[in-house]
Amino acid sequence: MPSMKQWAVQGKDKDFDGLVYQNAPVPKVGESEVLVKLHAASLNYRDLIIPKGMYPFPCGFPIVPGSDGAGEVVEVGSKVTEFKKGDKVATLFNQGHQYGDIDIPATQTGLGGVIDGVLREYGVFNEKGLVKAAKNLTPIENSTLSCAALTSWNALYGLRPLKPGQVVLVQGTGGVSMFALQFAKAAGAIVIATTSSDQKAEKLKKLGADHVINYKTDTNWGETARKLTPDGAGVDYAIEVGGPGTLRQTFKCIKFEGIISVIGFLGGVQPQGEPTILDTLSSICTVRGVYVGSKALMRDMIRAIEANDIHPVVDEKVFTLEQAREAYEYMWAQKHFGKLAIKIN
Ligand SMILES: NC(=O)c1ccc[n+]([C@@H]2O[C@H](COP(=O)([O-])OP(=O)(O)OC[C@H]3O[C@@H](n4cnc5c(N)ncnc54)[C@H](OP(=O)(O)O)[C@@H]3O)[C@@H](O)[C@H]2O)c1
Repeated sequence: MPSMKQWAVQGKDKDFDGLVYQNAPVPKVGESEVLVKLHAASLNYRDLIIPKGMYPFPCGFPIVPGSDGAGEVVEVGSKVTEFKKGDKVATLFNQGHQYGDIDIPATQTGLGGVIDGVLREYGVFNEKGLVKAAKNLTPIENSTLSCAALTSWNALYGLRPLKPGQVVLVQGTGGVSMFALQFAKAAGAIVIATTSSDQKAEKLKKLGADHVINYKTDTNWGETARKLTPDGAGVDYAIEVGGPGTLRQTFKCIKFEGIISVIGFLGGVQPQGEPTILDTLSSICTVRGVYVGSKALMRDMIRAIEANDIHPVVDEKVFTLEQAREAYEYMWAQKHFGKLAIKIN
C-alpha cells in the first residue's frame, strides 16, 4: 500500500507539541470522491488555535490539520461528475456548505477541524468539497483562498454587495484583511487600513490602501478613521478581526446603515467595555457574524480573482511540509504579512 507524509493534531491541550509528523497510507477513493495530490497549503489563525484549545467550533482528534489547500486531481471515483484527472483544484472550508445560508450540519464539516485537512501529500475529498482553482494563480496562491479570502468576500458581498466609492475598514495585515483590501480596491472602494507596524504600513500603501493608521500609537483610531471618510460620515463596511479588543473603535467609525462583519478575535476575547446590542441602534448599523462562505460564493470570488487578475498577498517566507510546526510558530509570533504558505509537492 503506497504511503505518504502527513501532520496530525493529537488533541487540544498539547499546544504545538500536539502536532505530529507521521507516515500514513495514501487514502482510497470512494465513488463520489476525488484523490488530490496536494501542491500547497496555507495556514490560518484558526489552525494555530485548534491545538491551543481556543477554537470555538467543532473539532475531532486526531485530525490532519489545515483547511486551505490546492493541488491536482490524480484519481476520481466512478460517480464523480465535476472533476477529472489533471484538473487543478482548491479546497472548500466547510465541505457541506454548498450555497445559500449556512446551516447546523454544514458547520460540522470544517476541513482540518472535523474532516481531515490538507497538511499531507495526498488528500481524498468528496467532490462537493472542491472547486476548480483560479487559472491566473500559482498553486501556492490558490492554496490561500479557502478560508481568509472567502470570509472577506462574504463580508463584502454576502449580505449587501459593496459598491464603488464606498469605504471599507480593514484591521491589521493578516490574511483576511489583505484579501478584503484587494477585493475592495478591485471594486473601486476606498480602503482605510490599520496596523501596529510602520514597516507594514508602507506595504499596505503599496497594495493600494488609501489611508493607514497605526492602532498601537493611535489608540483612538476609530475616530481618526471616521475623520478620513467623506464628510466624516464613517465607513460602510468594517472587517472586524480584532473582536472585543477593537469593536469599540469600530463603532466609532461605522457609518449609519454600515455593516460590521464580526470575523475574529485577534485582540482577545475578554469583553472590556465593548459595545452592547443597543449601540447598533444609536449607530444605526448592522453587526453580522460571518463564518467563511459557501461553494457558490467561492466560485463567484474565483471569477472575480481571474477577471481582475488579483494575486493573493503571500508572505515571502514559504515553509516545506516537514517544517509546518515552524510555520505555526512563525505565524503565532505574527511575523507574517498576508498569508503564510507551505509548499507540499
Ligand atoms: N469567521 C470566520 O469565518 C473567519 C475566517 C477566517 C479568519 N477568521 C478569524 O479572523 C481573524 C484574522 O484571521 P487571519 O487569518 O487574517 O489572521 P492573521 O493572518 O493571523 O492576522 C494577524 C494580524 O492581525 C493583526 N492584529 C493582531 N491583533 C490585532 C488587534 N488587536 N487589532 C488589529 N489588528 C490586529 C496584526 O496585524 P499587524 O501586524 O499589521 O498589526 C497581525 O499581523 C482571526 O481571529 C481568525 O480566527 C475568522
